[in-house]
Amino acid sequence: MSAANSKSALGTILALPGDGIGPEVVAEARRVAAWLADTRSVAFQFIDGLVGGASYEAHGVPLTDETMRVAMEADAVLLGAVGGPKWDKLEFKFKPERGLLRLRKDMDLFANLRPAMVYPALAEASTLKPEIVAGLDIMIVRELTGGVYFGEPRGITDIGGGNRRGINTQVYTTQEIHRVGRVAFDIARARGRKVCSVEKANVMESGLLWREEITKLHAAEFADVALSHMYADNCAMQLVRNPKQFDVIVTDNLFGDMLSDEAAQLTGSLGMLPSASLGATDSSGKRRALYEPIHGSAPDIAGQGMANPLATILSFAMLLRYSFNRAVEADLVEQAVGNVLEHGVRTRDILQPGKTLVSTKAMGDAVLAELERLTKTR
Ligand code: IPM
Ligand code: MG
Repeated sequence: MSAANSKSALGTILALPGDGIGPEVVAEARRVAAWLADTRSVAFQFIDGLVGGASYEAHGVPLTDETMRVAMEADAVLLGAVGGPKWDKLEFKFKPERGLLRLRKDMDLFANLRPAMVYPALAEASTLKPEIVAGLDIMIVRELTGGVYFGEPRGITDIGGGNRRGINTQVYTTQEIHRVGRVAFDIARARGRKVCSVEKANVMESGLLWREEITKLHAAEFADVALSHMYADNCAMQLVRNPKQFDVIVTDNLFGDMLSDEAAQLTGSLGMLPSASLGATDSSGKRRALYEPIHGSAPDIAGQGMANPLATILSFAMLLRYSFNRAVEADLVEQAVGNVLEHGVRTRDILQPGKTLVSTKAMGDAVLAELERLTKTR
C-alpha cells in the first residue's frame, strides 16, 4: 500500500490498530482512505505498526522505541484500541495502556478533542429520552499529558506491617492550563462561543489553580467567548440532566476521561465517537496528532465482525480535517456516515427495531457505497 501511494502522497500516516477490535475497525477506515486515494487523489503513505498487547506479544514491550520514532516523524497517527484481559496481570510498565500513554506523552499531545454529536437517526438509540439528546453537539477538550495520569510521585510502596501505600499525584502548572485552555477557546469561537471549565476547585488546589488560570486567560485573550465554571460532579449530573446547555467543555485528564465516556453514551453508543489528540503547532504550522475512536478494545466481541467501525472512520475524517486541512473530504466522509445511519444500516451496538443489522465489514461497504453515490450525484 505504501509503495502504491507514496508517489503523490499528501503525507505519512502511522497505523497502529492495536488489540481486540482495533484491527477490524482500523481496516474499515483504511478502506475509506483507499477510496479517497483512488477516486479523489487524496492519498497517504501508510506505515503499519504495533501498539499495546500486540506489540507486547511481538517485542515484549507495549511500544518499541522504533515505533515511537516513526510516530514522531509521521504526519499523523491512526490508532485502533489497546488492552485486553490477557495482559491485565502484567506489571504496570508492560501493560498495553502504557503504549498509548507513551505516545500521548512523548508526542506532547496535550489537547484531546472529543466531540459528542447525536446523529438525528440515532436519537432513539440513546438510553436517554430522545428530546434530551436530539440535536446534541458538544465538544469535550480534555487535557491529555498532565494531571494524575503522569504526576510524580507515583507508585506502590511497602510501609511495613503488611501494609502498602498506593500514590498518584494530581498536578498542573499555569502553562499546562493555558495551552489547553487556548485550544478550547479557539474551538468555541468556531462553534457556539461558550466554554464551561470543569474541575473540583472546592476540594483540590490543582482545581483552584485551574479555575483561576482559565479565568485569567479568558479575560486576557478570549473575552468574546462566554465562560462558565462547574464542579466535575455537577457536570457529570448536568450531562444527563440537560446536556444541550453545553457547547465546549474544557477539563483535566482524569475528569475528561470520565466525562467523555458519559457524553459518548448520550449519543447512543461509544462505537460512534471519534477523537483527535493534538500537540502544539510548530513554526512551520505543523502539529503532531493522533486520531482514535474513544471506545476501547472490546475483547468480548473481537474477531467476530460485530464491532462498529464508524468511530474510527470518523476519526479518519478528523485526521483529514485537522492534520491535512482537507475539509471537503472530511465533510464528505461525515456526510456518508450520517446517510448510512439514515438508511437504517446498523451494527449491533446501535441496532434498533426495524433496522438492518450488519457486520463491521458490511458497515464499511455501506459507507463506501454512500461515498460513491454522494460523489456521483454532486
Ligand atoms: C481513553 C482511555 C485511556 C485513558 C486508557 C486506555 C489508557 O480510557 O482514551 O479514554 O484512560 O485515557
Ligand atoms: Mg477513557
